[in-house]
Amino acid sequence: MEAFNDHVEIIREAFRYTQTFREKTFVLQVDDTVADESILPELVRDLVLLQRTGIRIVLVAGARRRIDEILDRYGVDCEKRRGIRISTPEAIPFIKMAAFDVANRIMTSLSGLGVSAVIGNWVRARSLGVVDGVDFQDAGTVDKIRADLLCGVIDQGSVPILPCIGWSPAGKPYNLSSRELATTLAISLHASKLFFVSAFDGLVASSYSTDGTIDNAPGGRISRMSVDQAERFLELNPSDDDLGVELVRLALQAARNGVERVHLVDGRADGAVVREIFSNLGVGTMIHTNEYQSIRGMRRDDVPDVHRLMRPLIDRGVLVPRSEIDLADLHGDFVVFETDGMVHGCGALHRYEDAQAEIAGLAVDPQYDHLGIGQRIVAYLIERARSEGVERVFALTTQASDWFEQLGFVPGTVADVPDQKRSAYDHTRKSRILIFDL
Ligand SMILES: CC(C)(COP(=O)(O)OP(=O)(O)OC[C@H]1O[C@@H](n2cnc3c(N)ncnc32)[C@H](O)[C@@H]1OP(=O)(O)O)[C@@H](O)C(=O)NCCC(=O)NCCS
Repeated sequence: MEAFNDHVEIIREAFRYTQTFREKTFVLQVDDTVADESILPELVRDLVLLQRTGIRIVLVAGARRRIDEILDRYGVDCEKRRGIRISTPEAIPFIKMAAFDVANRIMTSLSGLGVSAVIGNWVRARSLGVVDGVDFQDAGTVDKIRADLLCGVIDQGSVPILPCIGWSPAGKPYNLSSRELATTLAISLHASKLFFVSAFDGLVASSYSTDGTIDNAPGGRISRMSVDQAERFLELNPSDDDLGVELVRLALQAARNGVERVHLVDGRADGAVVREIFSNLGVGTMIHTNEYQSIRGMRRDDVPDVHRLMRPLIDRGVLVPRSEIDLADLHGDFVVFETDGMVHGCGALHRYEDAQAEIAGLAVDPQYDHLGIGQRIVAYLIERARSEGVERVFALTTQASDWFEQLGFVPGTVADVPDQKRSAYDHTRKSRILIFDL
């Protein structure tokens, strides 16, 4: 039954996310290193699920490996400088062949799941020209994206697939970087999310210089960076030829231009994109623009979410019963912990006479426990109490006395709490009293 309840919570969470992202655009650059038979069908199946929940999906097909293979097979030599292929006119037909081959492969997978997909020429390109004395020949850069036409395709329920080719107004094809194309596309479509999905071990903190402000997930993976942290990361890691650095650079460009979340994901992991969206710490690295996690005062419209969080604990007798009406009356005392717009924790500070206050109603979503959220809520409430001139905070708990002690609280007795609380103390609950002097 407990396992089933866990599933119910996951399903609810998924519904909340899909409501948040309905009608929003996700641009995914899918590298051909993950576009082979063993990985692509799984990835595409997840993308189709996202599309069916109302998310507008746009795909950019990366073809670097396939281009290398085809050029190699036909004995065409193409040098790369600073990671960019010097695309000679002789190489261009082969580059086009490879680019459309990968795009076709993705289209075939989507068709197999009954989804209509369209490969198109929505990108106007121009020559990259000569940079620092290097003539990149027919390598191009994005000049303009026909967002109106692209949106028309999405409105009709299709998934647009963009190969890494753009055309000049005269119809001349240029070889584009699919990662740059995806970045420009996400910006011009005002996408909510941009994903770089590749065979990539992820940003492991030990492989880079960091300034210690970045949160690491288990395994030392950098799970998220704010725009400021990403800027600092690039200052500390100026490398030109590291994939992680290149992706952070592009992610930053997208984030600075309005794309709220950019995700770097290892597409080889099962369900990588879905897990990155729906799990608490993701499986890749997210670069985000606005505050991703915050503690703030509870608003009246948070009451149903907070009640949902507290209800199982109330049912188990861990928390004192509170109805939605009680919570609405007490909303000024409560704070919530929010991750990406969803409430995953709460706590309250009730004021008493004698410069005392009680920390109560503390609850953390079980899907998000062990992440230090409870501790952050308590620290926030203590700061709030301190700023209001409170001299002692106390908590009554039946189940979490050890936890409060770890945070520096000391055991107390009923005699230590204010009169008003003492007279209301429920002797049948036998709650332990923990005290923290400020
Ligand atoms: C107690 C509670 C708020 C902690 O939230 P949290 O975000 O998981 O806490 P943190 O991440 O800050 O701390 C987690 C650590 O405390 C420990 N811990 C969690 N609950 C504990 C408890 N009841 N007793 C002792 N230790 C506990 C965990 O083992 C964990 O240690 P670890 O990180 O070494 O694995 C949460 O478990 C909860 O909602 N409990 C039910 C409600 C409750 O008891 N509220 C207190 C009464 S107001």
